[in-house]
Amino acid sequence: MKSLIIANWKMNPSIKKEAEQLFKDVFRVIKKTKTVDVLIAAPFVWWPFLKKAKLCAQNCFWEEKGPYTGEISPKMIKDLGVEYVIIGHSERRNKFGETDEMINKKIKAALSAELIPILCVGEKKGEDAEEVIGRQLREDLDGIENCKSGIENLIIAYEPVWAIGTGDFCESCDAEKVLNFIKSKYNNQIIYGGSVNGENSKGYIDVGFNGLLPGGASLKADEFIKIIENVQN
Ligand code: PGA
Repeated sequence: MKSLIIANWKMNPSIKKEAEQLFKDVFRVIKKTKTVDVLIAAPFVWWPFLKKAKLCAQNCFWEEKGPYTGEISPKMIKDLGVEYVIIGHSERRNKFGETDEMINKKIKAALSAELIPILCVGEKKGEDAEEVIGRQLREDLDGIENCKSGIENLIIAYEPVWAIGTGDFCESCDAEKVLNFIKSKYNNQIIYGGSVNGENSKGYIDVGFNGLLPGGASLKADEFIKIIENVQN
C-alpha cells in the first residue's frame, strides 16, 4: 500500500500567488513519486488555482445544503471531485468548540457523501493518551455502520495536541504505542501528525504508520520535499 502524506496548509498562504508558487515548487516532486500519495489540504478559496493537486478539504459541515452561512457541505466537496476531508482537527475542537457529537455528525455526513474522512484524535499534555483517544474514537464513530460508505473508508490521524505546531514532536517509539492501541480496535489506515519534519518523518513510517499529516513543514517547499523523499525511500 502507498504511504499517504497530507499537507495541512491550514489558513495559509494568505495570498493566491504564494499558494500557486508553493504548489508549483512541490509538484515537481509530487508528480514523480510512485510510492507516496500526496494530498494538499489547501483552503477552499485556493482550490480553483491548484488544478493539478489531489486536494483534501480541511473541514465540512454535516448538512447537505441550507441556511448555514459560511459552511461547506460534503456533497459540495464531492461534486468538485475531491475525495478526502479532515474532520475533528484539534484546532477545530479547541478553537471553534467542536464537540465529539458534532464530529460524529460530520463523519457520518462525509461517509454518506462517499468522501474519505481523516479523523484526527489525540491527547493534550498530561492526559492519558489511550483514555482520551479511546473515548474520542468511540464517540466520533458511534453509529457509523449505517452510512452509505463504510468504516473501512475512514483514515485515523493520531495527532498529539501538545506536538502540533510546537516542534515538540512525539518520539516514534511513543507514537508506536498509541498506533498499536488504535490498531487493536480499528483495522484502518492510521497516519501521524504533530511537528513532522524532514528529519523525523521516516521514523513514523518505520514503526508502522501508513502516512503523515505535516502542517508547518508543508508550507516550506524544501522541507515538504524532504518529507516526501524520506518516506518514499
Ligand atoms: P504541525 O501541524 O505539523 O505544524 O505540527 C500538524 C497538524 O496540525 O495537522
